[in-house]
Amino acid sequence: MQPTTPILHFPNDLAQATAFIKAGECVAIKTETVYGLAADASNEDAVKAIFKAKARPATNPLIVHIASIADMKKWARDIPSRAYLLAEKYWPGPLSLLLKKQPWVSDTVTGGQDTVVLRMPASNDFLSLIKAAGVGLAAPSANKYKFISPTCAAHVLTSLHGRIAAVVDGGRAEVGIESTIVDVTEETPCILRPGPIGRDSLARDLHTDITFKNNEGLTVPGSVLQHYQPNTPVKMLTQNVLSQKRFTKSEGLISLSPYIWPLEKGKHIQLSSTPKEYGRDFYDALHQLDKQGLSCIYIEALPNTDSWFALNNRLSRVVALG
Ligand code: TXA
Ligand code: MG
Repeated sequence: MQPTTPILHFPNDLAQATAFIKAGECVAIKTETVYGLAADASNEDAVKAIFKAKARPATNPLIVHIASIADMKKWARDIPSRAYLLAEKYWPGPLSLLLKKQPWVSDTVTGGQDTVVLRMPASNDFLSLIKAAGVGLAAPSANKYKFISPTCAAHVLTSLHGRIAAVVDGGRAEVGIESTIVDVTEETPCILRPGPIGRDSLARDLHTDITFKNNEGLTVPGSVLQHYQPNTPVKMLTQNVLSQKRFTKSEGLISLSPYIWPLEKGKHIQLSSTPKEYGRDFYDALHQLDKQGLSCIYIEALPNTDSWFALNNRLSRVVALG
């Protein structure tokens, strides 16, 4: 931990970032989904430092990021063929696989569970850091616990400045929402967190049904209601209500539709009506509006179709209850 957090760039600063990891420190770095806060997953104190920097409860398990499919068996045991099939197809990419853990993998990483979640991220920066450090890197999203996930280095610094060793600025995360997490330990795999890779594709690949478990109530952060919240209250509006609404100066809007009444500059962000682009820009839009100290951010409701499933899941977590 350092009072100010240096911004590094790869490949020039790879040796510096690797030295931080080897010293048991935390480094924020881009993945294709969101920025992760990485530390040596085999070093108990380094993993504890992640929890401390994020102010995250110790019971919430972390994803271990690896740089090759061959590394899966270092961390996991009894790996079923369906896990290899999905890894071959989607890695490097936004898919995380829950598997039985090897006995040596620390409870600090897994939150005391007998399982470990593995992912190979599609980010050259991240992969080169894993290879240079020679270890798997535990990495949750690089934000304070319950705050909005970061999709660029500036977002990371909003909540973790001064609390981490460095941030590697690799530009914008291209996917923009967190990976799909699938439990592949059972014959019928189960989605634990919906994400960029949809249930239909997974079911097609595996020629089987895929279930979805609403993980609510479990002490894992992605399943804690209201997890991804900005400081500003957020409310959802249907398109109908939106078309009638007049906004005050202190209110902001994220919409899909064009909005006819002018809002002050920078207070209305219209996002794409395709889920892929909407997902890429969603957290950034929240960050932009949140830093303006508004009284409320309104978000236009999303279509209720399969392709918007993961985004509806994230939206339900940012919208204030009641
Ligand atoms: O896209 C992503 O997955 C990003 C980037 C940085 O890779 N990471 C991310 O990590 O979103 P995090 O810590 O914010 O969310 C990881 C989720 C946890 O909320 C939990 O639901 C699940 O992974 N998880 C990890 N290990 C688990 C385990 N052993 N059992 C059940 N769930 C687990
Ligand atoms: Mg997170």
